[in-house]
Amino acid sequence: MGKHRPEETHNPRPIDAEETVAILDFGSQYSQLIARRVRECGVFCRLFRHDATVEELRSISPVGLILSGGPSSVYALGAPRLPVHIPEWDVPVLGICYGMQLLAQQLGGQVLASDRREYGPAELIVCGPPDALFAGLPERLKVWMSHGDRVQTLPSGFRHIASTQSAPFAACADTQRRIYGLQFHPEVVQTPLGGEILRNFLYRICGCHGTWRPEAFVARAVAEIRSQVGDRHAICALSGGVDSMVAATLVQRAIGDRLTCVFVDHGLLRLDEARRCLALFETLGLSVVPIDASVRFLQALRGVVDPEEKRRIIGREFVRVFEAEARRMEDAAAPEGGPRFPFLVQGTLYPDVIESNAADTQAAARIKTHHNVGGLPDDMKLKLVEPLRYLFKDEVRRIGMELGLPDEAVFRQPFPGPGLAVRLIGEVTQERLDVLRAADAIVTGEVAAAGLSKEVWQYFAVLTPVRSVGVMGDDRSYANVVAVRAVVSTDGMTADWARLPADLLERISSRIVNEVPGVNRVVYDITSKPPSTIEWE
Ligand code: XMP
Repeated sequence: MGKHRPEETHNPRPIDAEETVAILDFGSQYSQLIARRVRECGVFCRLFRHDATVEELRSISPVGLILSGGPSSVYALGAPRLPVHIPEWDVPVLGICYGMQLLAQQLGGQVLASDRREYGPAELIVCGPPDALFAGLPERLKVWMSHGDRVQTLPSGFRHIASTQSAPFAACADTQRRIYGLQFHPEVVQTPLGGEILRNFLYRICGCHGTWRPEAFVARAVAEIRSQVGDRHAICALSGGVDSMVAATLVQRAIGDRLTCVFVDHGLLRLDEARRCLALFETLGLSVVPIDASVRFLQALRGVVDPEEKRRIIGREFVRVFEAEARRMEDAAAPEGGPRFPFLVQGTLYPDVIESNAADTQAAARIKTHHNVGGLPDDMKLKLVEPLRYLFKDEVRRIGMELGLPDEAVFRQPFPGPGLAVRLIGEVTQERLDVLRAADAIVTGEVAAAGLSKEVWQYFAVLTPVRSVGVMGDDRSYANVVAVRAVVSTDGMTADWARLPADLLERISSRIVNEVPGVNRVVYDITSKPPSTIEWE
């Protein structure tokens, strides 16, 4: 089940963003990365689809425009085009890769297919009179190339400002009109000084001041929520994750006890998690209605082994439980001339907004149906309060700290909505859940005790459906295999397996086989994402 379909028009002027840069997304896998890099420079930005209208772009009064790369060729039939006529657009423009080729094409230059695709590192040589884009940078720098076409002739008014061996126009500029193009990708880590190039564009060319500070966001978010909710009530499904906790805390600051939170225990939580979450909510001063629906979920999952089927059932049951609770609270409330809870608070983040917009046009393969606790069907008819819908996860964590949330809340590892059901391969039964919980508690406890909990993005146990032969004492055993998964990542979109110290792995393995009945073998998952995913199902 996906999240609520976000309406891009719902909050056109984001909180705390006097200066906003618009990024036009032409389908590059790096578009979100450009947005992250711009935010890291202290400048707020919004990502728009390449077919955004001029009015949409103008609605945020951008101080600069960045055109992303993309997989197409500017001459291909149906290739995405620029939605605006650049010379009439009076803000600085930076085209990256496909974005630079589009600029060249629209302004009268020539783009041709290269003999072969250029992919990988290259040495950039900055040339000509010094330009603001490369101010303060060395004359030679490492950059990352990934392109099949290249600019053959520059449009009039442009000059090349840097080249590589195979791309004479690796960077170009029309300084008069403040239009810039880069054939390489400044946003990827393989261009080590790429962040500086973007910073130069933002500060020296667009004239930004760096007003985007998540810390300053809190007061404005609270004011905005107050004006949206007025004197009405709001309801929030808390999952125990950092996003819903930060969203709820912000709303609670704004409307106090007119926020009611619901915490559904679907019986698929980690060891002692429900109790710990409730204790945490209490320290946050949130008013929470706990619901133990574990029996219901376990019954609904009986006999189900297919991962997608599990996800669908959990999503459906969650909605039913939440709706029933919302109705019950409605009925219990004295009517005040309308629904008691017209607002639903969600911890939707910017990547969710971007991805669900992209999903409208892109036939991307569906890898997993993500069930997000708090994601509810459109016919709920509740108005959404989504204070985090323009933020990335690291920004949410900073806001969590600003709100005074404890580390335990702010740095919680992400936990999937369907919980242990997708870490337990095969049928979900109480007995198997108990085995997994016990093994998982050892993994999480040991990694935390080793002081690695902030470094490692996620670490957990998986109960495989495999049994293997072992020897315990003088006896043969034939028991479960537990896999340990630990990954490093910045956003969960890609991940690498964590190089946990061997002695830590040994401790985990020996404790699991000694302390968890029914397990005689522990394996360590050494695959990255891609090609694997973080969760096993
Ligand atoms: P995968 O397994 O797709 O996971 O590599 C990427 C990140 O998403 C989390 N995850 C989920 N989060 N609902 C969620 O809210 C889900 O259904 C879900 N499935 C996976 C996963 O833990 C990882 O952080």
